[in-house]
Amino acid sequence: MTNPKKSIHGEWSSHWAFILAATGAAVGLGNVWKFPYIAGENGGGAFVLVYLLCVIIIGIPLLMAEILIGRRGRQNPAYSLRDLALESGHKPFWQWFGLGIILAGFLILTYYSVIAGWSAAYVFIAATGTFHGASATRITQIFSQLVTNPYKLLFWHTVIMLITVGVIAKGIEKGIENAVRFMFPIMILLLLMLVIYAATTGYFASGLTFLFKPDFRKLTSTGVLSALGHAFFTLSLATGSIMMYGAYLPKKASITKASIYIAIADTSIALIAGIAIFPIVFANGLQPSAGPGLIFQTLPIAFGHLPYGSFFAVLFFVMLLFAALTSAISLLEPTVAWLIETFHTTRARAAIIAGIIIWILGFLTIFSFNILSHVKPFGMTLFDNLDYLTANIMLPIGGLFIAFFAAWLISKNNVRDELQLSDRWLFKSWHFIMRYITPIAIVVIFLNFVGIIKLNSH
Ligand code: PHE
Repeated sequence: MTNPKKSIHGEWSSHWAFILAATGAAVGLGNVWKFPYIAGENGGGAFVLVYLLCVIIIGIPLLMAEILIGRRGRQNPAYSLRDLALESGHKPFWQWFGLGIILAGFLILTYYSVIAGWSAAYVFIAATGTFHGASATRITQIFSQLVTNPYKLLFWHTVIMLITVGVIAKGIEKGIENAVRFMFPIMILLLLMLVIYAATTGYFASGLTFLFKPDFRKLTSTGVLSALGHAFFTLSLATGSIMMYGAYLPKKASITKASIYIAIADTSIALIAGIAIFPIVFANGLQPSAGPGLIFQTLPIAFGHLPYGSFFAVLFFVMLLFAALTSAISLLEPTVAWLIETFHTTRARAAIIAGIIIWILGFLTIFSFNILSHVKPFGMTLFDNLDYLTANIMLPIGGLFIAFFAAWLISKNNVRDELQLSDRWLFKSWHFIMRYITPIAIVVIFLNFVGIIKLNSH
């Protein structure tokens, strides 16, 4: 049972390959699509500040914890947690908690795939030159023509799930490594190009002020919780993805360095996307709180006014699609690894079965933009409910457990052995943060949300 030296699913070719793959998992729709629209919904600056604090105080230490658990357990999150608990003399029931983590990633993929489908659709819309010189109203219309049509959404959701299942069925190393290596620099370049366009709109300063000048009156307790949830979502934490990728990490690689690289790359892309988007929002009289359609209603305006705009628009949405796919793949892998290790079935069969269930559950998200848009449990669409449940509730609770597990449950020696922090001081700080700071921060944000304590005025 305990801790196989290598995962039965293989290993990354180097620690750089791991960093690339984990960065590919982290960088995705969360950075370019979700971050701007939830920052917009939550009033900008103060939200961004809380999000950045969460990435630093909670995100990076938890990334390290997840990678070390994965690498020591060398199996899917449920079995890795079980074996690490056993190794330190605790009960095996921790695997149930691991299953909860896998479930969170599984549920996220049901809507992630639908939104990734929007990016795929936009590649084709951009290619026909539709954005050229189009007004903001026309661009908004194009977006609503897509999302109000359940057949179109179903088509693209199906395409995304087929690709995701296909890649996972074949095993992941080469595919992911190459895609990320190639697409990452181009994505940054394209975003910077959009930033330059945004600077010419005359609203650059308003955009920056909105994004970086904290106004705590605009921040609600739900906003604080969303900032925490987003830190988890964007770093792919508490979904099994990072733990799973850690299981394929060679023994010698530095977990600390990897975690810091991943967090920096992920955060920079989100901030650059925000800097590109908000000036366009203000220049065109759009609302920052437009919701999930925000980037699809703003960036095409920029492309429509740039020289060779259609070409760059195609390139941009292809990149976004790739970024989304590398994340979708990482969302499916833990479920598939669990199926293989539990039922000793083939990778292909496991990927197909999981893929079909996720594909069907994706209908909920598809319909929440059209035929079921009036169905609003808890005052939110079905899609918003799913997103809220996973990102704002399941992930932070998962994070709380992971911190507890890594800092209180497994023995300090095992952790030290795995983290290999040469500097004692560095290890002590990490351990202290995991033991006290991370859990307290998460609990405080929850207590603030339910109104037991008051961090902000509303
Ligand atoms: N981090 C990804 C993004 O920002 C989404 C994701 C969440 C991927 C959880 C894997 C696990 O788009």
